[in-house]
Amino acid sequence: MAFRKNFLWGGAVAANQCEGAWNVDGKGVSVSDICTGGSYSVSKRITPVLEEGTFYPSHEAIDFYHHYKEDIAMFAQMGFKVFRFSIAWTRIFPTGEETCPNEAGLEFYDKIIDECRKYGIEPLITISHYEPPFALTQKYNGWSDRRVIALFLRYCETIFRRYKGKVTYWLTFNEINVGISPMGNLFSLGILNEGTSDFSNQKDDPKLRFQALHHQFIASAKAVKLAHEIDPSYQVGCMQAFGTTYPLTCNPDDILRCQEFNHRQNWFCSDVQVRGKYPNYMKRYFEEQGIRIMMEEEDEEVLKEGCVDFYTFSYYMSSCATSDEARRKVEGNIFGGVANPYLKTSDWGWQIDPKGLRYTLNEIYDRYQIPLMVVENGLGAYDKLEEDGSIQDDYRIEYLRQHIEQMYEAVLDGVDLMGYTPWGCIDLVSASTGEMAKRYGFIYVEKYDDGSGDLSRKKKKSFDWYRKVIETNGEDLS
Ligand code: BG6
Repeated sequence: MAFRKNFLWGGAVAANQCEGAWNVDGKGVSVSDICTGGSYSVSKRITPVLEEGTFYPSHEAIDFYHHYKEDIAMFAQMGFKVFRFSIAWTRIFPTGEETCPNEAGLEFYDKIIDECRKYGIEPLITISHYEPPFALTQKYNGWSDRRVIALFLRYCETIFRRYKGKVTYWLTFNEINVGISPMGNLFSLGILNEGTSDFSNQKDDPKLRFQALHHQFIASAKAVKLAHEIDPSYQVGCMQAFGTTYPLTCNPDDILRCQEFNHRQNWFCSDVQVRGKYPNYMKRYFEEQGIRIMMEEEDEEVLKEGCVDFYTFSYYMSSCATSDEARRKVEGNIFGGVANPYLKTSDWGWQIDPKGLRYTLNEIYDRYQIPLMVVENGLGAYDKLEEDGSIQDDYRIEYLRQHIEQMYEAVLDGVDLMGYTPWGCIDLVSASTGEMAKRYGFIYVEKYDDGSGDLSRKKKKSFDWYRKVIETNGEDLS
């Protein structure tokens, strides 16, 4: 057997994309709550003042808030060993600035964690997944202000103490490297620059963005240290959006362009979080862009003392890099790139590359030599609800099978892989487009982009397939 005996098979979701109940039991408004629905061709809009009659997908989402028992029972039926979910900061501290946490919010996650543990499912908690409090955007322009670090740490301390003894694995910031792209302004960094109305075309100030990212590095490092002080058995990981990039040709110009991309988009943030210091290769970029990061005296030491225990990442696709500007571009998870003639794309234009996962796992493990976990992977697809109520998602099974095969190879290659949590194990709202139509789940949810649907849950064909994969610890992928 390649996968270890206690391999963590499971699934992943995020609060803003599944919970709904956006203003229930004292929850405050998060940056996700002010984003409208969108689609592949129409960008989500950002509306600081909510518009009557406009559809805001996070407001009800799939109403996990009220369906969690049923949903976790279905995860247990599939045999999940782990469930990755996020805590909505705004349920605990509605504006981010309260001195006392909101008890109703804490109780909700007590219930989620207890429900998981009832079935022997290990919670894997993302502390911040695209939902900083909107009040912090209004007052501080989000993470661009250093004062947000202390507010975040108050939130961390509250949940580290509250759930002590029931949780082992934590992730600080989801896909922290999204902050290197203008797309990360609002949902990752809480930055909303004047004149922004389109999610896919946000007004950008790279100086502000990299400063905000620095504050997240410091917050993450301090959170790691704090977690270990509160409970030495806590394991805290980083989480990166890995946009695997190949040189389009062996032209040295393409090789160099590719290296530049990889440094900036794939390695920079994790080099800071795993190795505890800024990598040298960013110096030139910062200089050329006129970016000067304001650091305090303690920062160097803080980064050094707050290295993560394990490395996690999302992997959906790959693309290429070239110095030839005329080459055809493709979409991707946060980072698109140049089209690879050997790969096919999903309906949303993401290039499907299972072997890229094996390559990526090896690259990451060679570099850091700490345990890895694939905490997001999957195929966003249009599913069809048949008249007999079934969903024949063979394309999803095929995608997942091929990726698990490559994880298996990577483990044989010597990679220390802890687990696998495919994204959106139950259908939920898409982060990039705000759609329900882009579905990832093993469980279908009757909820549609016009807001209709009775929220009922149905097993897709992939449900039983994944149950068998888990039961056989990845040996039977047929
Ligand atoms: C990652 C995010 O970028 O990819 C998730 O961590 C997101 O929040 C997932 O949902 C898939 O992307 P999308 O845009 O298809 O929802």
